[in-house]
Amino acid sequence: MEEKILKIKESLNDALSNVEKEADILNIKSEYIGKKSEIQQLLTSLKDMKVEDKRKYGSLINNSKKEMEELISNKLEELDSKSNISFDDSLDYDLEIGSLHPITIVAKEVTDILKRMGFTVVSGPEMESEYYNFEALNIPKDHPARDMQDTYYLDNGMLLRTQTSDNQIHAMENYGAPLRICAPGRTFRNEDLDANHENTFFQIEGMVIDKGVSIENLMYVMQSVLREVFKSEIKVRLRPGFFPFTEPSYEMDMSCLICGGKGCPTCKHSGYIELVGCGMVHPNVLKAGGIDSEEYTGFAFGIGLTRLAMMKYKINDIRVLNSGDIRYLEQFKVQ
Ligand code: DAH
Repeated sequence: MEEKILKIKESLNDALSNVEKEADILNIKSEYIGKKSEIQQLLTSLKDMKVEDKRKYGSLINNSKKEMEELISNKLEELDSKSNISFDDSLDYDLEIGSLHPITIVAKEVTDILKRMGFTVVSGPEMESEYYNFEALNIPKDHPARDMQDTYYLDNGMLLRTQTSDNQIHAMENYGAPLRICAPGRTFRNEDLDANHENTFFQIEGMVIDKGVSIENLMYVMQSVLREVFKSEIKVRLRPGFFPFTEPSYEMDMSCLICGGKGCPTCKHSGYIELVGCGMVHPNVLKAGGIDSEEYTGFAFGIGLTRLAMMKYKINDIRVLNSGDIRYLEQFKVQ
């Protein structure tokens, strides 16, 4: 037994020494101390042991698991402190300081707010399979919802993800329940370009799964995010919506800040901009992620980061965001 545990710890040490990204460390965490990990199996096996073995091995296994948890959280902290990059002041740089892209600024703002609420930031692939982008999200082949999202299919049988919701399935598979993740990312749809439509835009996905999660929790998170991003109360409208992966589903619109709600081309003269799709996670989606829908409930949301940046910075033509025109883009500063 001692030897077995020693081996597990050594292998954890090895694994940790080879990774530098938060998501990789979290994968290691679920592999080594998650529900299906070896150490967890040893803990479960205690109940079938003889009393004297239980005494002998109980604290050994428990303490080892604690040690492993500590190793992992130390590694995460180490990564956090490394991210404060410092520059060598003794060198004479003659470079102009650049500025962050407006979408980068709002993405960071939203992830910072969510992180403070206990969300972990994850990321998934932009080239995705039909399974993760559609099927596992309760959108089978021939479902009309596929037409709502004009998809770029690739020659290799994959596609460019049309939504960041694919991260919901990856996260459930990787981390199980309870779960609290957010995933900012780039998404693609085969749209004709105009002032309001881009074929490449950004969303941030969020998902919370736990016992007793409710719509109130979802609304609280959405309100907190919007209030903090805009630093003031903004007018929000909640409507029933339809998404195959949530039931019930809602759409949240905010008053158009470009025209002050009076109506303009950006809000298609409605005075409102669609900003968030959200709802309670459909049991079929929990099932696809391997989570027992009798035991757990969850909510999910997808915020249009591109739209959020347009509202925050009063940008009335979406095309400038991908234009790479530095003269235009450098006017946006972190506030
Ligand atoms: N993926 C949806 C879209 O791109 C947005 C969305 C709706 C995300 C509902 C969600 C959700 O997580 O629960 O239109």
